[in-house]
Amino acid sequence: MNKVCESTSLVIFGASGDLTWRKLIPALYNNFKKGRLTECAQIVGVARRPYSDESFRERLLAGVKQFAPHTFDQAVWEGFAEKLHYFQGSFDDAQTYPDLDAYLRHLEGNQANRLYYLATAPSYYEQIAGQLTDAGMSREDESSGIWRRIIIEKPFGRDLASAQALNRALHRGFTEDQVYRIDHYLGKETSQNILFFRFANAIFEPVWNRRYVSNVQITVAESVGVGQRAGYYDNAGVVRDMFQNHLFQLLALVAMEPPTAFNATAIRNEKVKVFQSLRPIELEDTVRAQYEGYRNTEGVAPGSTTPTYAAFKVFIDNWRWKGIPFYLRSGKALKRKTSEVIIEFQRPPHLMFDFDEADNITPNFISLCIQPDEGIHLRFEAKVPDSDQDMRSVDMDFHYRSSFSDSALPEAYERLLLEALSGNASLFTRSDGIEAAWKIIDPVIEGWSETNKSPLVAYPSGSWGPNEADQLLARDGHIWRLGCIDG
Ligand code: BG6
Repeated sequence: MNKVCESTSLVIFGASGDLTWRKLIPALYNNFKKGRLTECAQIVGVARRPYSDESFRERLLAGVKQFAPHTFDQAVWEGFAEKLHYFQGSFDDAQTYPDLDAYLRHLEGNQANRLYYLATAPSYYEQIAGQLTDAGMSREDESSGIWRRIIIEKPFGRDLASAQALNRALHRGFTEDQVYRIDHYLGKETSQNILFFRFANAIFEPVWNRRYVSNVQITVAESVGVGQRAGYYDNAGVVRDMFQNHLFQLLALVAMEPPTAFNATAIRNEKVKVFQSLRPIELEDTVRAQYEGYRNTEGVAPGSTTPTYAAFKVFIDNWRWKGIPFYLRSGKALKRKTSEVIIEFQRPPHLMFDFDEADNITPNFISLCIQPDEGIHLRFEAKVPDSDQDMRSVDMDFHYRSSFSDSALPEAYERLLLEALSGNASLFTRSDGIEAAWKIIDPVIEGWSETNKSPLVAYPSGSWGPNEADQLLARDGHIWRLGCIDG
């Protein structure tokens, strides 16, 4: 895909913030270096701070050097930097928008497409979208094919009601086709590969169902704590921060039916069906926990009950998955960083081997390794050489880093920005999908605060989480598995 953004202005609101500096500009720089943004008219940062174009570029240069060190090249940067501009304005001042529009028109010369990126605090989303609408800046021109799109960062609401309100506010000026809601997990190569693994191969899909699968596990474990983000995190907690979006998106990719085509509508239709088929989650099937020492973090409220870890058992009530548990867990300050999906298969129906532990034979499982050691592994039993009939579990491994070169794994934001510029919304969430996910999540968060059915428990930093999460699986005769790292 080359030259996807001819005559396009990418307007980043929140240009002085962390996301712009760490993620967006390094991703755009990498795309530029690959020759994918050369025709792009300009990238305009908007924020309140008094930067000039020059000082704005200097700040971003430091970010690119730090966050894209392997691809940095001074000569490439100089070409890229010419495209960077800065417009100073306050998001809550209505005059900012017509002034920005005039500034953009001046830069654009002729008419240009526009991609607005809301990289601000979520409290500004409705306001900025509303002001863009009122200033006529969301209107497309069908006769000339000029488009307007808007990218919204996560979090998209903090519950169903606020997500619906935000959708309504967006839809006042932008049609659903113009709205691109970010979930950066969808931009990861390994998440994108789930559909290819399932539907570009013939041997996995026939066993990808309740007849062969015994359970599915999704683990998104982080070794870091909340760090500098306590202000945001203490209000959100792990379920809003990770489950409603990233874990549910992985769940949908693993569980969905084959889409009728590889396009945004077909793919997102199937994902929504997964969310609509989720059985309401029983509070007894949830675990919530907080790592020891979390309350001493600067910015965390004294006596905070915000969970930094959660585990859920969920069921998808449809033909493919009826009765098969999906176990989801995510937390901070855990032993290792790993994001992986395990498809655990049923044990063989009968074992003829005279092997002491035949009844406890490890079931086959496929591990989809999302990060950090990206790949796919299949665990199966093999006869131990030089034994009569001893068995041991072994792995068949695919590693991106050996099958493809390192450079084959771009940052999620590189892909997401390209897709939004080229008008492909497959990797973005749709309003009905977001709302369906909140419908499942809301009762859990409410239930936790209103009942004592799943009390908050503690876990030591550097562990794999609380014992209660192990018991959640033990009740069904299962254990948490890790197939991508050594546990
Ligand atoms: C973000 C969350 O969406 O995802 C963070 O807000 C979390 O709390 C991050 O650390 C994890 O992303 P990744 O790509 O490092 O797994």
